[in-house]
Amino acid sequence: MAALKKLIAGNWKMNMLATDGVALARAISAKANGASCDLLVCPPATILRSVAEALADTDVAVGGQDCHEAESGAFTGDVSAAMVGDAGASHVILGHSERRHGLDESDARVRAKTVAAHGVGLIAIVCIGETEAERDAGRTLDVLSAQLGGSLPDSGVSGTNTVVAYEPVWAIGTGRTPTLEEVEAAHTHIRTTLGAALGGEAAAIRLLYGGSMKPENAGPLLAVANVDGGLIGGASLDAESFLAIAAADAS
Ligand code: 13P
Repeated sequence: MAALKKLIAGNWKMNMLATDGVALARAISAKANGASCDLLVCPPATILRSVAEALADTDVAVGGQDCHEAESGAFTGDVSAAMVGDAGASHVILGHSERRHGLDESDARVRAKTVAAHGVGLIAIVCIGETEAERDAGRTLDVLSAQLGGSLPDSGVSGTNTVVAYEPVWAIGTGRTPTLEEVEAAHTHIRTTLGAALGGEAAAIRLLYGGSMKPENAGPLLAVANVDGGLIGGASLDAESFLAIAAADAS
């Protein structure tokens, strides 16, 4: 199978009010023409619609950062998958480590959210990744298998509705990254694990690397086997650095 087109996704986390977010989106889309990769920005829920409107008819897609698994109901402060889609998003990040570890989100919950996202036609970006203690204990690959097994739905997972993001928890926002060999080992393991569950469809699922990806290290990271893009936090808050990461894709 030919290499997958890379996806460069920005996770803005809890940053940006409407004016700055729309300006950032416009600055990215103004120079997105000719990018060899697909581009996606994931603003906070409050400005999803404004950013989606600013990016309508551009090559930059929009995603949410989370959704609740229920269709509707008494869940104060949450947003449903349908609400994320209704605001203009095509993607939604699920199971980010800041939710798994900060808010105790379990694999089962991430799976239920993924089912909800698929149910309304959103592409789920399912995040997995080991903590530093798990890596030090030599448990990285086991943790990734367990998170994949627990977080992905039993049926209906395909390359058109699912992206997997490998984000080592200790690499997020720290300036530290795994070695290229460690990234390759993790991504190859994820592809193999997906293959055991999904057969040939596993080859169509994009696997993103996330964790301190910057313009300076993006080229080598994006060239690693089975790395089909990046999920970028800090460096996605500046149009120039986000686009420089996309430009580092040599494929
Ligand atoms: P940083 O790029 O800031 O390390 O964040 C990565 C991340 O968590 C993306 O979801």
